[in-house]
Amino acid sequence: MPRRHNDFVGVFDSGAGGLSVLARLVEELPREDFVYYGDSAHAPYGEKPREWIVRRCRDIVDHLVGEGAKAIVIACNTATSAAASELRAEYAHVPIIGVEPALKPATLAKGVNRILVMATPITLRLDKYQQLASRWGTGHEVVDAPCPGLAARIERGNLDSPDVIELLDNLVGEHWGKVDAAVLGCTHYPFVSSQIREVLGDVPLFDGAAGTARQLHRKLAERGLLTRSAEPGSIDLRSSDADANTIALYRDLLAKGVPLPVRHDLSFSR
Ligand code: DGL
Repeated sequence: MPRRHNDFVGVFDSGAGGLSVLARLVEELPREDFVYYGDSAHAPYGEKPREWIVRRCRDIVDHLVGEGAKAIVIACNTATSAAASELRAEYAHVPIIGVEPALKPATLAKGVNRILVMATPITLRLDKYQQLASRWGTGHEVVDAPCPGLAARIERGNLDSPDVIELLDNLVGEHWGKVDAAVLGCTHYPFVSSQIREVLGDVPLFDGAAGTARQLHRKLAERGLLTRSAEPGSIDLRSSDADANTIALYRDLLAKGVPLPVRHDLSFSR
């Protein structure tokens, strides 16, 4: 089904991670059309300089808005921390919704005191997270766990391989049995939730996808931008990396994240 012009939501991430957010967006707004752009040719973002990330995000948003996106979802914690404020200033006429580590819901959960926040090194360093942590983290014990290499490993797929557990064990294994909850502050990480539980113990995991989906819904409603279509929407998946394995990975991860309603038409284009 072709997209309805000027009636689609543009969603992007450094690669495949944002598909975990797209899954929740589709669940929340099943009649909207979505165009997803994964920048896998340039992933990971989380170990790159902030200025580089801002430039790259600007190019992607420029492209999506140029094609007629009515709203943008930055389905990446790293890109949100690095670039959301600049992008919002530059594209004031388009609602831009970001994703942030779900520290707030974790602190509000019953019986949770010690919270591990897993994210890319740059997300944890930037002001946006520091502000979030001082707003919601006080009164709880918040332990930051930068996870260099984890998003890049998830981009390579084959997530059942034992090396994923080994990597997680090196990154966060020391916290086994010592935390009450973990925040998955990178949109790639929900795809290895069960492996994270294996390494940390059976603790609740929090991510920002559902909050982002509700926020998109609110913003579209406020601005009168919700689709009037009564038909099921479509998903158009794109990537900067044309490799057939990348395309297969996107399809596979999206199908895992959403019990994908058959009514969503998947087209793949670069
Ligand atoms: N998925 C991204 C995030 O939420 C970034 C991963 C990366 O490119 O380093 O932070």
